[in-house]
Amino acid sequence: MPDTDIYFKGKAEQLAKDLENSSPQEILEYALENYSPDIAIAFSGAEDVVLIDMAKKIRKDVRMFSLDTGRLHPETYRFLEKVREHYGIDIEIYAANRDKTEELVREKGLFSFYKDGHKECCSVRKVDPLRRALSSLGSWVTGQRKDQSPNTRQSVPVVELDPVFGNGNLLKFNPLANWTSEQVWQYIRENNVPYNELHEKGFVSIGCEPCTRPVLPGQHEREGRWWWEEATKKECGLHSGNINRKT
Ligand code: ADX
Ligand code: SF4
Repeated sequence: MPDTDIYFKGKAEQLAKDLENSSPQEILEYALENYSPDIAIAFSGAEDVVLIDMAKKIRKDVRMFSLDTGRLHPETYRFLEKVREHYGIDIEIYAANRDKTEELVREKGLFSFYKDGHKECCSVRKVDPLRRALSSLGSWVTGQRKDQSPNTRQSVPVVELDPVFGNGNLLKFNPLANWTSEQVWQYIRENNVPYNELHEKGFVSIGCEPCTRPVLPGQHEREGRWWWEEATKKECGLHSGNINRKT
């Protein structure tokens, strides 16, 4: 590993230690105050809306981007628009790769992921636009939490050097890493934060329409995503670095 990479990695690890016991608001404040305007929140249209609410209470010039895979639920598109209006914030939308999506669908149809796994479709519809979104940023903020997946997210740190994207110096903040779903929903209720209407229809974790389903009482939220695949592989590529992390 080159010296500069070791230097950035060491700095990120130190920052993660310093912020480990901080609240999501404190972590977000640190991130926004130190890295604006080259920092943006990755907003999926689910309960990660709390990050936008918190961020807008810290600064006016908050940036957020969403990856439009072309396969989101109508409810999610409506929710993105609601958030845009409610917070008076532009959504930087990044669309799926046109050429590669057309090629995939032409060759394998619209539901190839049920047969040969989600990786190929996620790569053209999610990872490609994420790469473009991140190319102009020095750091990004995600709504990942440890409790979202016992198989892949239980060691997510509050800040890390992005293990997959960037040139080895892209910071990835996960301010909600140590919060539980219950804490997120308590925040939503207490602060009258708008939420995706799918949550009223039994959905907990929300992704693309063909790859997300509601969960039953007692089922883990991740069971509603890519249910036909092994739990240890349930990362779509945005956070694939989680799979190799030691847990
Ligand atoms: S996923 O990788 O399995 O799809 P998940 O739905 O748990 O991710 O969301 C975790 C975080 O990833 C979100 O809080 C958000 O920061 C980011 N993310 C996921 N999907 C999108 C999306 N379509 N657009 C922007 N960010 C997203
Ligand atoms: Fe394609 Fe499903 Fe991945 Fe969405 S979640 S990009 S529809 S495989």
